[in-house]
Amino acid sequence: MLPQQHDILFSFLSVMFAVFGIYVFANVIQHCREKGGINTPLWGGIFGVLAISCFMMTVHMFSLVQRDQLIFFFSTYLWLILFLLLVWGVFFKSNKIERQSSPIIRAFFFYTTISVLLAGYTNWLPQQRSDPPPKEAAVVGDMTMEEFAEMGRVIIFGAKQVAGQKSIGKGQCPLCHTFDPGDHMGRCPNLFGVEKRSHDRIKEDRYATSPIAIGETEPAAGIVKGKWDEIPEEYRRQNGPDEMIGEDYIRESVMCPTCYVVEKFGKANDTKSPMPIIVKPPISLSRVEVNAVIAYLQSKDTPGEFAQVTVPLPQDDAGNTGGAVVEEDSGGDEERPVFVTGNEDIQTMINTLGCPLCHTIPGIEGAVGELGPRLHEKINAPKRIKDPNYKGKATNTKEYVRESILCPGCYVVFNEEAGESFPDGLMPTTFSEQLSVQAIDKLVDFISQTEPPAGS
Ligand code: HEC
Ligand code: HEC
Repeated sequence: MLPQQHDILFSFLSVMFAVFGIYVFANVIQHCREKGGINTPLWGGIFGVLAISCFMMTVHMFSLVQRDQLIFFFSTYLWLILFLLLVWGVFFKSNKIERQSSPIIRAFFFYTTISVLLAGYTNWLPQQRSDPPPKEAAVVGDMTMEEFAEMGRVIIFGAKQVAGQKSIGKGQCPLCHTFDPGDHMGRCPNLFGVEKRSHDRIKEDRYATSPIAIGETEPAAGIVKGKWDEIPEEYRRQNGPDEMIGEDYIRESVMCPTCYVVEKFGKANDTKSPMPIIVKPPISLSRVEVNAVIAYLQSKDTPGEFAQVTVPLPQDDAGNTGGAVVEEDSGGDEERPVFVTGNEDIQTMINTLGCPLCHTIPGIEGAVGELGPRLHEKINAPKRIKDPNYKGKATNTKEYVRESILCPGCYVVFNEEAGESFPDGLMPTTFSEQLSVQAIDKLVDFISQTEPPAGS
């Protein structure tokens, strides 16, 4: 049995060549015996070496896989055989052996046989080749909707989902959102049923006017509300109806959260969404990634059923420039790195951990999250420790910050502006697994120094 990845014909030919080398060697020795006066050690030596070379090359052929076998066969092995035939001819000529048909004629028959085999082989080639297609082709090639929605799931939850643990992918959505019926975490809408309500939201009176009117530009995202055809080219829908559809609502929700703020989930009287713009840093999803997330959201409530998905597959998407698909394929590597070593600069560290999604952090670019307290720990921490309700173990700022990061539930901060506690259980409790000792020290040092910007 030849292993799968070997080319069957060429492996077979190389075995034949090895046998042929030995046959020629034996033939030469036989002639030396029969006809006196031939320098047997010389000719025996030459053909012995050639036979061994053929044998070694055949062994080498079996250490290669298909494509390399072909290359080696034509670049090296074939020439050795030609050389063998030539020397064989010289042997006959120089020793005046004429009993047999001339080597030229035998060589001619040999080549004809090979040519016929090769011709047969070329017809057979396309079906026979079994080397795996290159990676890009595997993904850019035809993906099914099921695979595309799965890609969306991985962007949201990550590739390694562990039962009973909150798993979070590059999109970071589960930091805030829940996805199963009845599972509410507090500050963000449960995304169960979002496909269904996406069609209704755009017909609501509230959608038309609040917090901005259709046709107005939302400044943070730079997106014109309610106009699917004015979405930046890079992300725009290419086909389908001329009016807003459910898909457009979901796309707008993630590209421009403040275009429409779900009632009771916004800030400042529902005029501002605390959700990050997912096509901008730190999340920065690409066109194909956004579409994959939409495909997942449109199909997740009806397992195995993809009829309601309206986003195109990457291969059918005229706006797809290809880049991100490949990126997504490498799955694990492209995902949000789950571990921070401490060698990163502080901005990278904090972005990687996702703190800016929920916290406004002075000194960190883009950290304008509003789901958790503003991190002004230089003044906040001492206040917390003095709070009569404080039950933690910290006695100074650094200890308090460390405790807050490793054990967010140890003390739940009261939101004075809102007159209620910040949501307990929203801040992830997994940072201890994501940070090296060095990284946590660096993070604590930095967060302990944060204070309100001068002048505010
Ligand atoms: C930092 C928290 C946070 C993160 C991270 C986040 N969201 Fe949201 N999201 C919200 C909040 C709060 C709302 C409600 C306010 C609003 O409408 O913008 C919301 C609203 C939505 C809505 C509209 C829901 C509806 O019922 O109309 C969709 C869809 C959505 N998010 C999808 C996502 C996806 C997909 C991701 C990940 C790629 C994500 N969100 C990441 C906080 C977040
Ligand atoms: C999903 C949202 C979310 C993320 C991500 C998050 N936090 Fe928090 N954080 C909160 C909320 C909500 C609170 C307030 C409730 C509480 O105290 O547990 C909080 C509280 C804190 C506090 C206490 C603040 C105070 O003034 O007492 C610190 C410090 C803190 N977070 C640091 C971090 C750091 C550092 C990161 C990133 C490594 C981070 N958080 C990531 C939501 C988040």
